[in-house]
Amino acid sequence: MTLSLKKLKKSVVSELQYNFTAREKEQVFFILLEHFTALSKITYLTNSGQEISIDQNESILHGVTLLNEGIPIQHITEKAYFRDLELQVNKHVLIPRPETEELVSLVLGHISPNQRVLDLGTGSGCIGLSLKSKLPNLEVHGIDVSQDALDVAQLNAKNLGLEMNFTKLSMTENLSGLGEFQVLVSNPPYIGKHEAPKLESNVYGNEPHIALFSITEDPLYFYKALKKSALEILEPGGFIFLELHEDYANKTAELFKSEKFEDVEIFNDLQGKLRFLKAKRI
Ligand SMILES: C[S@@+](CC[C@H](N)C(=O)[O-])C[C@H]1O[C@@H](n2cnc3c(N)ncnc32)[C@H](O)[C@@H]1O
Repeated sequence: MTLSLKKLKKSVVSELQYNFTAREKEQVFFILLEHFTALSKITYLTNSGQEISIDQNESILHGVTLLNEGIPIQHITEKAYFRDLELQVNKHVLIPRPETEELVSLVLGHISPNQRVLDLGTGSGCIGLSLKSKLPNLEVHGIDVSQDALDVAQLNAKNLGLEMNFTKLSMTENLSGLGEFQVLVSNPPYIGKHEAPKLESNVYGNEPHIALFSITEDPLYFYKALKKSALEILEPGGFIFLELHEDYANKTAELFKSEKFEDVEIFNDLQGKLRFLKAKRI
């Protein structure tokens, strides 16, 4: 038995419950269609009478069931889009966020083409790989404590044909063995454990807690470690760029305002929230 694309779209849109607007339901249909059948939106628009197999139909409806249970669509397709890159993602890495795309723009505004860059807490590799894709002469390194995350980042580098060096290391360790860098960039885990109840259940239930939560009650824990790293491995005149928790942005800036850094600046994201820090090592 087969089913037309038009009928399938109708049932997907009517069965999707989970907080989707009508427009998002349509977008979800086209993402699932492409993922499970390789048929594009254009195919639908030009021939909505086209039939698909019962197996494809069932896969798409199973995708709808998972979405209704709160599974992120990126975990169903195992794909996420970050700036102009298509990345592989899974349960071991944070699904890259739009704010982090803005962090990359901020870095690109200050970086020179031949510099050494370290991405601390690289996850899917989204930050380092985006920088490398724009400036191919950069020497880009990424560290993470999670080997599972590094496996994903490595796969992304390979799929994209981009050279990036990955090392399993904690940003709380002494990183001198990696040498000196002109640019450090990090989107560290910055959600306090006390904030867990406020998180959307699909984020709390599906994304790696090691990527989300600061490991102590100190909201600045990773920022203190990043400052220590900057003192050890950031060349004088080099920059550190950080994604921030909006509630602690000013405190993080205070941490960097010392005799060792200058031009400490906070930037808003497109939502108007205090989100990024730039500081120059003296
Ligand atoms: C908020 S996620 C950011 C991932 C990616 N850079 C992005 O922007 O989407 C934080 C990352 O830091 C890693 N991480 C957690 N604790 C770490 C530590 N002590 N040292 C290095 N990486 C750590 C997590 O595994 C996770 O990949």
